[in-house]
Amino acid sequence: MDEIIIKGGRSLKGEVIVGGAKNAALPILAASLLVGGRFTFHNVPVLKDIDSIKELLSNMGASVETDGHTVYIDTANLNCFEAPYEQVRKMRASILVLGPLLSRMKKARVSLPGGCAIGARPIDLHLNGLALLGADIRLEHGYVEAACKKMKGAEIYFDVPTVTGTENLMMAAVLAEGTTVLRNAAREPEIIALADTLNLMGADISGIGTAVITINGVTKLSPVTVSIIPDRIEAGTLMVAAALTKGDVRIKNCDPNHLQSIIHKLEKTGAAIEVFEDAVRVKGSHPIHSIDIKTMPYPGFPTDMQAQFMVLLSVANGFSVIAENIFENRFIHVSELCRMGADITISGNHAMIKGVSKLSGAPVMATDLRASASLILAGLVATGTTIVSRVYHLDRGYESLEKKLASLGATIKRVKAQKSS
Ligand code: UD1
Repeated sequence: MDEIIIKGGRSLKGEVIVGGAKNAALPILAASLLVGGRFTFHNVPVLKDIDSIKELLSNMGASVETDGHTVYIDTANLNCFEAPYEQVRKMRASILVLGPLLSRMKKARVSLPGGCAIGARPIDLHLNGLALLGADIRLEHGYVEAACKKMKGAEIYFDVPTVTGTENLMMAAVLAEGTTVLRNAAREPEIIALADTLNLMGADISGIGTAVITINGVTKLSPVTVSIIPDRIEAGTLMVAAALTKGDVRIKNCDPNHLQSIIHKLEKTGAAIEVFEDAVRVKGSHPIHSIDIKTMPYPGFPTDMQAQFMVLLSVANGFSVIAENIFENRFIHVSELCRMGADITISGNHAMIKGVSKLSGAPVMATDLRASASLILAGLVATGTTIVSRVYHLDRGYESLEKKLASLGATIKRVKAQKSS
């Protein structure tokens, strides 16, 4: 098992390129199940979660070839309509095959994902929506068994905006008879990217990027070639790294429109940010000002950036409060940050952060994807050495983060752990 070792204290400087968005690539690759034929996907990040979805599609009979950041998927011959427990357990987003399989094959068997480190994460809104579209849904032996004769358009209201739920329902509805309206739909850029891809395939989706998405069912879709949008969370993580280390970093190949809540909050902490068409330049300055943050569905502040901002606020002047409104257990990084000297108290879904003058390096354990990134950020400013173990969590969603940080001047390397942790 790999570990990442960081010697803190270096100010990051230079340019860095952001990769394709994991959370856009996952549903877009799953959309290839909707019609038989050869798809080409460019700018696909090289990540464990992408390996998982490719393996899932390949086990269903798709032919999958990878050439660097380009992935070719041919879904002409599917022979299996199942996402088994071993795969869904590794990656919850495997649930994204449910909508397209039902759409094209009229049946699917997908393991229930269960909870994960950051919360219970039910999929009731996915299943209720699919039932409204005409699917017969049964939960048997830990699996969702879904089948339908014909998918029919329906009015679907989400109690809360769900990202993968909106994506699953869009894919389930594109070939349905009649019109589907998704109300209180999620508005994340990754949903827009999926909807644009589906429309390129021949779907008729409007209201994209709003809370009311209308899908007029079509009878035919075609394979396409698409490029995956930049990863706003990777960009945001690198922006925080620059601000935290009092650095000066130009983060290239990102979409600043997707980063507005992050830019806004980072500026409030005192960082200077220049925005270009497809880049942002972040100059950190000290002292870092304390701020309050509430995580919200897009265009609000992303829960996927909460742990990284917490590190920044740990070394800010004064008190900050973070309210985590999306996932009920997304403060598991706090105890590790406190071991590094942070002063953070949790009460319900609020974290009270009292800024300290320094963090000190320590051996710490990654517990989930974004928590891993936060520990690496903490290591960048801590005195001495930080060793982050269980970095397989990081590899699910960041491509070579340590190499990107090293190219900006960080003293950071990946090593094989002496013994398993
Ligand atoms: C996606 C992202 C994840 C991000 C999250 C919130 C992907 C692959 N993952 O996860 O990185 O942190 O959005 O921005 O895109 N909920 C229900 N019932 C459901 C579905 C969701 O109650 O059927 C609740 C969840 O428990 C949570 C909220 O809705 O409280 C939002 O979750 P959701 O948007 O569905 O998250 P994911 O799509 O799993």
